[in-house]
Amino acid sequence: MRVLHVCSELFPLLKTGGLADVTGALPPALAELGCDSRVLVPGFPAFMSGLVEKKLVAELGSKFGAADVRLYLAKTPDNLTTLYVIDAPDLFDRPGNPYADANNQAYADNYRRFALLGWEAATLAEGLDSTWKPEVVHGHDWHSGLAAAYIKAAEISSGHKLASTVLTVHNLAYQGLFPAHVFGELELPSYFFGMNGLEFFDQVSFLKSGLFFSDKLTTVSPSYADEIQDVEQGCGLSGLLGAKNQDLVGILNGVDPTVWNPEIDPILVSKFSVRSMTGKAKCKTALQEYTGLKVQNEFPLFTIVSRLTEQKGLHLVVDGALEIINRGGQIAILGSGEPEIESAFAALAAKYPESVAVQLGYDEDHAHRLVAGSDVIMVPSRFEPCGLTQLYGMIYGTLPLVHKVGGLADTVTDCSLENLADETATGFVFDNFNVQGFNSAARRAFALFARKTEWKKVQKFAMAQDLSWDAAAQKYFDLYKQIT
Ligand code: ADP
Ligand code: GLC
Repeated sequence: MRVLHVCSELFPLLKTGGLADVTGALPPALAELGCDSRVLVPGFPAFMSGLVEKKLVAELGSKFGAADVRLYLAKTPDNLTTLYVIDAPDLFDRPGNPYADANNQAYADNYRRFALLGWEAATLAEGLDSTWKPEVVHGHDWHSGLAAAYIKAAEISSGHKLASTVLTVHNLAYQGLFPAHVFGELELPSYFFGMNGLEFFDQVSFLKSGLFFSDKLTTVSPSYADEIQDVEQGCGLSGLLGAKNQDLVGILNGVDPTVWNPEIDPILVSKFSVRSMTGKAKCKTALQEYTGLKVQNEFPLFTIVSRLTEQKGLHLVVDGALEIINRGGQIAILGSGEPEIESAFAALAAKYPESVAVQLGYDEDHAHRLVAGSDVIMVPSRFEPCGLTQLYGMIYGTLPLVHKVGGLADTVTDCSLENLADETATGFVFDNFNVQGFNSAARRAFALFARKTEWKKVQKFAMAQDLSWDAAAQKYFDLYKQIT
């Protein structure tokens, strides 16, 4: 089975969020099952300089405003994944964030940049590389949304099937919307711009294109698959998703054990495992020293590792922080994003330096330090398609405190008395999305932390969860088999 993943990020070369963790881990996990998958990415600088063994596949001339477009075949430095990379310097050779300029403004020509990504996927499905032709084209998020449209257009004009298509929605809130007038530049049949196509309230929607034209749709948790069929979380697309309900499935993400694993994590001052937890206490002390927090182990240390956006519900932490501090708890934060959230956290750290530590920015090493050295990881998101940080927390014995929504609801079990009795509890879950709900979960964390034996039991249970990619990869593989 030959599967082409189409995406814009891939860990460790280029990452802005969990999407990269998934596209980095899923192809090797599929390979373990005998599924031959390759990945198509835009030639962003991080890919052009980070990939190895680059070989020219085709010279494609000028396309979507870029001169001298070339397609290369390459490998990740660990040799685990084979990629096609689109070298188009006019569109992709820009430093920093792959989607936006230094002022965080989305690039005005993003529709051309990601049209080229989708178009290139279709040319591979048509047989551009005579040595490898995908049977399934599997796109991730809006960036890949036009791939299925170009494939459909080519199938209609040639009269035969080129490849089956899958789109995974990692986050329905990001849709790739552009003014209607750009449609003329996309080189698609004019009738594709309509309700049965890319049109979305008089705009061009790359995500709707992928949702409409793909054979199968997946999202990254079963609960989110249900939630996005309702108006509240459907971002204007609930009708279409409901209509394609039979072709939509939620498959939970996994954790890459070569990257997130306390037994081998090179960042930790002391490794630990479910069998020997003394290393975790050392990690907590080291983290408190590193961040300038008071060194103590009487009360829990809460952490946040997150994009600081409205999605993540972090205003609940800002509003609930004082209650945590007054109970003797501490909060260590790593994140970057919306200026109001950044400054609210910075103000807390300035006022309570022994209790709150904030690092603004993106820092992979510090993320590992925080996940390992903390007691509780907070993910109080308003909505969360899957969420990976709560899974990383569980693997490191750092119990998640989460809002009961999306993938958070599917992966964390609350420490209620009955769940403690059944030995199924893995964290602290609140239902009401307000500060009272958040505070009640935080109070449960304090109460459990005070009962050391019970805390350890829950930690062990969380650490023993099977969060590997094996089950998810098998589900994707089964889905590919259904459509080929
Ligand atoms: P999302 O994709 O919505 O951002 P996830 O929980 O799925 O949420 O994935 C977030 C990923 O990004 C995790 O790997 C997390 O460790 C990482 N991350 C988020 N913010 C930062 C940061 N400031 N520095 C380092 N890693 C971060
Ligand atoms: C998105 C979602 C997140 C998910 C990640 C990987 O960024 O916001 O919940 O875990 O994609 O699928």
